[in-house]
Amino acid sequence: VAIVESNRRLLVRRRPVGLPVAADFELVREPMPELEDGAILVRNHFCSLDPAIRGWLDAAPSYIEPIPLNAPVRAISIGHVAASRHHEFPAGDWVFGMTAIEDYSIARPDGFLRRIDPARAPPVTRYLSALGAVGVTAYCGVTHVCKPRAGETMLVTGAAGAVGSLVGQVAKLSGCRVIGVAGGAEKCRRLIERYGFDAAIDYKGLSESELSAAMAAAAPDGFDIVFENVGGTVLDAALMNLKLHARVALCGLISEYNSKSGPVGARNLWQLVVKRARIEGLFTGDFLDRFAEAQDAMAAWLEQGCLVVDEQIEEGIENALPAFLRLFAGTHQGKLILRIV
Ligand SMILES: NC(=O)c1ccc[n+]([C@@H]2O[C@H](COP(=O)([O-])OP(=O)(O)OC[C@H]3O[C@@H](n4cnc5c(N)ncnc54)[C@H](OP(=O)(O)O)[C@@H]3O)[C@@H](O)[C@H]2O)c1
Repeated sequence: VAIVESNRRLLVRRRPVGLPVAADFELVREPMPELEDGAILVRNHFCSLDPAIRGWLDAAPSYIEPIPLNAPVRAISIGHVAASRHHEFPAGDWVFGMTAIEDYSIARPDGFLRRIDPARAPPVTRYLSALGAVGVTAYCGVTHVCKPRAGETMLVTGAAGAVGSLVGQVAKLSGCRVIGVAGGAEKCRRLIERYGFDAAIDYKGLSESELSAAMAAAAPDGFDIVFENVGGTVLDAALMNLKLHARVALCGLISEYNSKSGPVGARNLWQLVVKRARIEGLFTGDFLDRFAEAQDAMAAWLEQGCLVVDEQIEEGIENALPAFLRLFAGTHQGKLILRIV
């Protein structure tokens, strides 16, 4: 068993109201707990900074328990097994799963923890991007929720982000015409030049009706599919541009996550009646049994050079909060990752 004298951990001290601030957290040094039979000590190398963490910081009911106060901030991570009392996870193996923003985590295989091959599609951080939860979200969201047919038109919102950039590329590989919405001219340029989108719309500074008009100009016949990551006025504008029998995959509502006045909601729901359209929530946790299928597909596309993956790696556990806040400022490119060691 490795001898570890102390463990840096980012603890939640109080529930954020609006954008999280430094006083909501505390970086502490704690002694390592005893490793019980059947448990594994994971040395976290990289933690995934996901918008979902903002939801887990709230007390509101969700698909997972809120992070308890005074517990470390939960995160999907990659690390190596530093010590093990479980025969299927020998010391030295690399793992991917739900741990926390801390140097070392005690993990149990009955939670979400998988062995990974770091040499499969290097660098190993791909297990937090294309081969990780966002890759599975994009692949399964497009393939098994949106179920596109070649020639259909898909709108992707939050299109330049970790999920959105992969969604657009998977949709293109499925034969769709793909239009992305993102913040700023530079991100829109990347959508077309780097990720292969057919058209891009910069939503910044546009009113809902201006955004709706820009969508209509990009897709005069409307959208067969909307992959929604943002919500609010962006979703409302998209709802005004649905085709008959369109489907909307609701993946996230990031524009609401820091709202101090509660959910913003969609106001143009009547359009679902007008267009006999359907809207369906999408949760990556429902696709645990399809992880291998999604990883195989994404790994093959990476190897064939038909998938572009961007990762932004921020350095150090002490920078966890400013790094995390990039998700809400949009000041990152691709999958946002925190290096712990
Ligand atoms: N349902 C699931 O199981 C599941 C799984 C993974 C992710 N998700 C969801 O997928 C979405 C994208 O996640 P990600 O990890 O790929 O993050 P990301 O897109 O890499 O980063 C978030 C992006 O959202 C945009 N954004 C932030 N605040 C905004 C606001 N107030 N209004 C409009 N846009 C805003 C920014 O892009 P711009 O600069 O373009 O504005 C930012 O770059 C999130 O909604 C997340 O919750 C859901």
